[in-house]
Amino acid sequence: MTEGGIAERSESRARSRFITLEGGEGAGKSTQAALLANALLALGLPILRTREPGGAPGSETLRGLLLGSSEWSPLAETLLHFAARAEHVAKTIRPALDAGMWVVCDRFYDSTMAYQGYGEGIDHGVIASLIGHLGIVPDVTLVLDVSDKVAAERRVRRGGDADRYERLDAAFHARVRQAFREIAKAEPARCVLIASDGSKEEVHSAIMRTLRTRLTLPSGP
Ligand code: TMP
Repeated sequence: MTEGGIAERSESRARSRFITLEGGEGAGKSTQAALLANALLALGLPILRTREPGGAPGSETLRGLLLGSSEWSPLAETLLHFAARAEHVAKTIRPALDAGMWVVCDRFYDSTMAYQGYGEGIDHGVIASLIGHLGIVPDVTLVLDVSDKVAAERRVRRGGDADRYERLDAAFHARVRQAFREIAKAEPARCVLIASDGSKEEVHSAIMRTLRTRLTLPSGP
């Protein structure tokens, strides 16, 4: 199982599930998505791990435009995220679910509500309407919540060049964090807030405990 729409299958025929991971910068989503996908694969489930923006060829092209140096107006940026997402759903996520796979997706539509809605001031109703047009809702959304201090430490440890979003100021990132908390509170049937200041092993254990209470997981291979 790898990112970007390439999948490995195991023998299981379990009913498909769509699991998304959300959170601000430094929340550890990508690490947790990989650990989760490996754990589910070890249980014998057929897994596709993917991410946004991206996850399909056209969506990856849009990712390059979105994270690159261009300055987008907030509405254009919102629509580009949804163009990438519509393609991702049509070409990768929907076919995998139809084939009975479990899809683990690093970011999905809550990121647009948090970053472009709460962060950049795009009308929440516009984003909610676009979400409705996708015609797909995750079974479980894991919202990783990390303190500003730990998020900053993780960003420094990770190194490398900051993308366009990582360069935005602390007030923007505070709005994004608050947005994810509000989204999780507003949709408790779908979303679970996971405290993510701990080690990656601790956060992974919390995620697996959550999934065992929300979904029927096999006991092992
Ligand atoms: P990543 O760092 O998780 O790969 O995500 C890339 C950046 O894109 C991240 O800073 C958040 C941003 N983003 C949005 O602003 N809106 C969206 O809808 C998505 C999916 C990501």
